Amino acid sequence: MSATSSYRLRYQQRIEYEIVRTSHLFAPENPALLSPGRGAGSRRFVVVDENVYRHYGAEIHHYFDAHRIEARVVPAPAGEEHKTLETYLFLARELDAFPIHRRDEPIIAIGGGVLTDVVGFLASSYRRGLPHIKVPTTLMGYVDASIGIKTGFNFNGHKNRLGSFYAPQKVILDKAFFRSLPRRHLLNGMCEIIKLAVIKDARLFTMLEEWGEQSLQTCFQDEQSDQILDRAIRGMIEELEPNLFEEELARKVDFGHTFSYGLEAQYEDRLYHGEAVLLDILLSVLMARNRGLLSAEETERVFALTERLGIELDPAVLDAAMLWESLEERTYHRNGLQRVPMPAGIGECVFLNDITRPEVEAAALELETRLTREFHAVYQR
Ligand SMILES: NC(=O)c1ccc[n+]([C@@H]2O[C@H](COP(=O)([O-])OP(=O)(O)OC[C@H]3O[C@@H](n4cnc5c(N)ncnc54)[C@H](O)[C@@H]3O)[C@@H](O)[C@H]2O)c1
Repeated sequence: MSATSSYRLRYQQRIEYEIVRTSHLFAPENPALLSPGRGAGSRRFVVVDENVYRHYGAEIHHYFDAHRIEARVVPAPAGEEHKTLETYLFLARELDAFPIHRRDEPIIAIGGGVLTDVVGFLASSYRRGLPHIKVPTTLMGYVDASIGIKTGFNFNGHKNRLGSFYAPQKVILDKAFFRSLPRRHLLNGMCEIIKLAVIKDARLFTMLEEWGEQSLQTCFQDEQSDQILDRAIRGMIEELEPNLFEEELARKVDFGHTFSYGLEAQYEDRLYHGEAVLLDILLSVLMARNRGLLSAEETERVFALTERLGIELDPAVLDAAMLWESLEERTYHRNGLQRVPMPAGIGECVFLNDITRPEVEAAALELETRLTREFHAVYQR
């Protein structure tokens, strides 16, 4: 005769963190980087993307010196190719050699999405979790990568294969960083804003149509750009907050993140994350039009916007077989259903579970033809 008994343990943790927009972040009179945490006489482990360090390293050192905080500032190798276990281990060793208090000396991560993802994972795993502050320095980080709680790095040929959900203590946004950001990386972040606009915010889309070019010209330093950034961040929070741990697998913010998965894995050296996302968006827009979810006019508005913003996309990467495999992989990732977000009119979303291979092939062929035409037009100009 068998006998079974069980015990139950229940614990609930509240997650709350502040996302602060500030300016002159490294001016000693700005307290944003210090709080929460101990002040004079304390320590900080600060990881800075190596390119960011080149531009702002002296200011960062000066800031902590001015507050008599002993900071170990570690420049970290930049770029997607360094989003690896090796970078994680390098940082773990550095941190191990610089003991900090587990509760009130938060790790500080200053850099793009690659850096904040890797350092977020370091914070979540070192001594089973230390507080950390994220300071995104790219547009991609500002409107997307730093807002949520996903951390990780690439592993075994897969994007973000090792990672965790781990909330920061705080996120600090200062758009002044965009002044030194290469234009292609500004455009890269713009792709994520386009994503949000097409799938959930028609007003944001018209703002991009009206002010997008100007935002790029001013590196988002003008007043209208502020409105775009504010709307994009609010939209992101609106989507993430009720589903922070992704219990619900049908997510609007996954728009552009189905076919891009394979594109990124295959063309890591040629495509940035946002560019892969935009290719996915354009492919999806064509499929949505073919299904009658988008009108021809709405479809053309999306293409016109990307062209007007000067985002150049390489048509040579559009291999239909690979795109289909990517959809299959994402279907597995989404627990067996495609759950592909699709625009149903600009600013509205439906989820599809019945996309067919011929649909993907037809859209890929049309997109390749269109982009090749535009590519040549740019070349001849
Ligand atoms: N965690 C998430 O929810 C989430 C969301 C979106 C994207 N991501 C991840 O983000 C990564 C892409 O992030 P990214 O586009 O910021 O790339 P990135 O971190 O590689 O930064 C882009 C480049 O810009 C340089 N750079 C950064 N800030 C700079 C500045 N202010 N001035 C001059 N140069 C600067 C970097 O050195 C790098 O060469 C991808 O790995 C993606 O998976 C994560």
